Amino acid sequence: MSRPLPARMSLGDCRIYHSVDMVDRHYSEPSLAELYDAFCAGRPDFSFYLPRVMSAERVLDVGCGTGELLRLAREAGHTGRLCGLDPAAAMLQVARRRTDIEWFLGDLASVAWDRAFDLIVMTGHAFQVFIEDDQLRASLTAIRSILAEHGRFIFETRNPLVRAWEGWTPKARGSRSCATVRPCG
Ligand SMILES: C[S@@+](CC[C@H](N)C(=O)[O-])C[C@H]1O[C@@H](n2cnc3c(N)ncnc32)[C@H](O)[C@@H]1O
Repeated sequence: MSRPLPARMSLGDCRIYHSVDMVDRHYSEPSLAELYDAFCAGRPDFSFYLPRVMSAERVLDVGCGTGELLRLAREAGHTGRLCGLDPAAAMLQVARRRTDIEWFLGDLASVAWDRAFDLIVMTGHAFQVFIEDDQLRASLTAIRSILAEHGRFIFETRNPLVRAWEGWTPKARGSRSCATVRPCG
């Protein structure tokens, strides 16, 4: 991707960074963002992430979307710092209904936290937004710089050998009903 990187900003400035042009329409369109949590209900991946979030004091969710994981952590009694970062304003608009979590509009190029987090996560295949090698290197470098000395970064990507996309057709799903659609699956 060849978009110009924004200047790095301080913690406070992150909230006003707008980069809607970089995100897919299903994240930047408010009416679609409103549907996101309903389509993702009952997802199994949070049973992996949630215990790890609960045992970390300061957590950053990169590409947090509507912020469901951090909301679950707060509801489960997490008392530490929970921050969500996402470049899609529409997704964050949903997330911001929860006011006891810090939400930041932007991407990794727009933040300047120094060793601030014990755990950084990228869930729901968010890591796959990084496509080019230089994007991956820049993102991993940024993550390292904001991770505490013994902090951890946890993410997942699809295994291409599974060829999951072959099941993403109405025929393979056996129905055209949107009830069978799993945007996060
Ligand atoms: C599939 S959603 C996952 C959302 C959430 N992590 C979850 O598990 O439900 C991918 C998210 O990545 C965000 N995103 C897109 N480009 C990004 C970037 N360069 N850096 C961080 N997040 C990005 C999108 O706005 C979207 O909210």
